[in-house]
Amino acid sequence: MLKVGMVGVGCISGIYLKNFHETFKNVQLVAVCDLVRSRAEAAQAKYNIPKIYDTMEELFADPEIDIVLNLTRPYEHYEVSRGALLAGKHVYSEKPLGADFEEGTALVKLAEEKGLMIGGAPDTFLGAGLQTCRKLIDEGLIGDVIGGRCVLSSRGVETWHPDPDFFYQRGGGPMLDMGPYYLTALINMLGGIRRVYATSQTPFSEHLITSKPHEGEIIKVTIPTHYETMITFDSGVTVSFVTSFDMYDPKMPNILLYGTKGNLFAPDPNCFGTEKGMKFQCGETKEIIDLPLEFDYGVNSRCLGLADMAAALEQGRRPRASYLQTYHVLEAMTGMMKSAETGMPYEMTTHFEREAPMDPTLPHGVL
Ligand SMILES: NC(=O)c1ccc[n+]([C@@H]2O[C@H](COP(=O)([O-])OP(=O)(O)OC[C@H]3O[C@@H](n4cnc5c(N)ncnc54)[C@H](O)[C@@H]3O)[C@@H](O)[C@H]2O)c1
Repeated sequence: MLKVGMVGVGCISGIYLKNFHETFKNVQLVAVCDLVRSRAEAAQAKYNIPKIYDTMEELFADPEIDIVLNLTRPYEHYEVSRGALLAGKHVYSEKPLGADFEEGTALVKLAEEKGLMIGGAPDTFLGAGLQTCRKLIDEGLIGDVIGGRCVLSSRGVETWHPDPDFFYQRGGGPMLDMGPYYLTALINMLGGIRRVYATSQTPFSEHLITSKPHEGEIIKVTIPTHYETMITFDSGVTVSFVTSFDMYDPKMPNILLYGTKGNLFAPDPNCFGTEKGMKFQCGETKEIIDLPLEFDYGVNSRCLGLADMAAALEQGRRPRASYLQTYHVLEAMTGMMKSAETGMPYEMTTHFEREAPMDPTLPHGVL
């Protein structure tokens, strides 16, 4: 069984801690570390975690730890992942892989040099909803895919996150924060990306925090917060993607794919199941039907990608959520950001091949 040390015990750590404890028994969380020690102490008390470290360097030096789980803020990912790799640990990082393409490139190079794995979120594409969509597309439910439209509309994160500043800093924004869910879902349904094109805007220079404990404070916005993009896949299919922290939610489908035989309404790629539904519209009859889930992991199973990575390392296969995927997604996102700055399309340099789908016959928690 591989042993894990968690760096960053903030907002998202709760679901990882729960799923380590309840579901994924092939990985054991042996240590936690946070700059705010009380966060690590609370996790230790709730889940009986053996060790707390005050600094990430002390955690990296623990010979018992095989994998470092990086749950820090996006602009901190690079230093944490780099330090862990230099200490000889495999890494699983929350998204994005790095705050820019250069950081991602340096991490991938370092991991390859050291013969270590760096995998990462999101792992929602391994959930019941998106795995079912992938299977149905592969089986030809909607015929040949013609195109699609994806929309992430939100009015920012300062209404619910306790420390929302990082969403408006380098490494954040609607592209690097939410783009990973959409692009990872799309490449697992449609294959790798060839070219991207985008425009961006920053319509609000300030956002007012309404969540506690920073209620009433103002966040100065220094990055684009609204993107309109076009994604061309290796297959030639083109999908439009809007990702925004500035839109009142018009309740558009998160992911809609058009095919020669009908349309697929895929689920919210930030979810594992089908909280907002998963539907097929038959081209011939125009009828819209609900689609049943055909895979496991229909509830919030964050940690699934890490558990799969640990199983893959032990089984000698490639992890499903490896850097081959997170790096391609990072290039597509930063390529869109570059395109928005230059007004020119961005041609991808990395190539992506899908890993095997999930095996629905395996018992829950086994990978
Ligand atoms: N909050 C969410 O709903 C959510 C959902 C999915 C993914 N994520 C991703 O998870 C990551 C963390 O987000 P969050 O919302 O939990 O942020 P957060 O600010 O709540 O937590 C980050 C934690 O990391 C700690 N930290 C930072 N640098 C550290 C270091 N060097 N050593 C030890 N601890 C350190 C901070 O003290 C903080 O407690 C981000 O990459 C985010 O994109 C968040």
